[in-house]
Amino acid sequence: MDRLKICGGKPLSGDIAISGAKNAALPELCAALLTAEPVMLYNRPHLKDVCTMETLLGQMGVRLEHHNGAVTLHAHNIDWPLAPYELVKTMRASILALGPLLARCGEARVSMPGGCAIGLRPVDQHIKGLQAMGAEIDLEHGYIAAKAKKLKGTHFTFDMPSVTGTENLLMAATLADGVTVLHNAAREPEIVDLADCLAAMGARIQGAGTNTMTIEGVEKLHGAEHHVMPDRIESGTFLVAAAATRGEITLHNTDPSSLACVLDILRQIGLKISVGKDTISICRNGHFDAFHLTTEPYPGFPTDMQAQMMALATCADGVSTLTETIFESRMMHVQELKRLGAKIDVEGNTARVTGVKQLSGATVMATDLRASASLVIAGLMAEGETIIDRIYHLDRGYEAIEQKLSALGANIERISGSGAGI
Ligand code: UD1
Repeated sequence: MDRLKICGGKPLSGDIAISGAKNAALPELCAALLTAEPVMLYNRPHLKDVCTMETLLGQMGVRLEHHNGAVTLHAHNIDWPLAPYELVKTMRASILALGPLLARCGEARVSMPGGCAIGLRPVDQHIKGLQAMGAEIDLEHGYIAAKAKKLKGTHFTFDMPSVTGTENLLMAATLADGVTVLHNAAREPEIVDLADCLAAMGARIQGAGTNTMTIEGVEKLHGAEHHVMPDRIESGTFLVAAAATRGEITLHNTDPSSLACVLDILRQIGLKISVGKDTISICRNGHFDAFHLTTEPYPGFPTDMQAQMMALATCADGVSTLTETIFESRMMHVQELKRLGAKIDVEGNTARVTGVKQLSGATVMATDLRASASLVIAGLMAEGETIIDRIYHLDRGYEAIEQKLSALGANIERISGSGAGI
């Protein structure tokens, strides 16, 4: 298993390009199941989760061609509308194939995703929504087995705004008979990007980015080209890493509007941020103040940035509080940050972080994707050497992270396999 070795204490400096968004690319790859014509996605991020989704689609019979950061998917025939346990267990987002498969093939079998490190993460909303559209769904042998000759438009109200739940129902509704209205829908920018992709394929969608979406089903969708939006979480992670190391960097190919909530907090705590149309710069600063944040569905503070902000809080001036309201077990990084000398108390779903002068390097273990990013940031801040074990989590969601950080001046190295060289 690969590890990262970081020698901390160097301020990040320079320019980097942000990759396409994992959480937009994954549903957009699945959207290609909705048409027999080719769909081309530009700005495809080269990530483990993207490769897993492509393997899954390939097994179903989708033909894939890669060219220069783009991928063309051709779902002329779908031979096997199945998402097997072996792939779903490595990536929960495989559930995104359920809606499109059902809409296009009239049947689908998708393994039930199990619990995961950050919480139980049920998929009841996906199932209830598809049932409301007329699907017959059985849970058998660990699989969701769904059937519907033709899905029917309906009004469905989510019990809570679910990102992939909204995406699944949105994709299914594009080929349903009649009009579907999704109430209490999630509003994340990735959903708007997916809706843009579907619209380019001929779907009729209104209200993407609001909590009520209306989808008028069409007989068929056609091929299209779409540019995957920039990854707002990768952008936020690099900005926090620059702030944490008292560095100065500029992000390119990013979208400042999708990150407003994160930029607001960084400004509030004393960091200087300037934005262009597709750039964000953060300036060198001596210190940053403690802060208080609560994660919320978009446009609130993203849960996917909570762990990285906690790493920043470990060296802030004063006491910060971070409250996690989306996932019940998303504080796994706390124990690891403490190994680096952070002062953190957790009560319920709130972490109280007292800033210290300096973290000190140690060996730590990555537990999930964003927890891994927080450990990288903490390692960059810490004095001495930090080894991060189990970084396969990081490869799921960050493209070439050690190359990008090295280009910004970080002392970071991947150690392959058994750990030789440590
Ligand atoms: C997506 C993102 C993930 C992000 C999360 C929240 C992708 C591929 N992943 O995950 O990076 O952290 O949104 O912004 O886009 N819930 C239910 N029943 C359901 C569905 C969700 O109870 O059927 C609950 C979840 O347990 C959680 C909350 O709703 O407490 C939000 O989860 P959801 O938005 O569905 O997260 P994901 O779509 O899995």
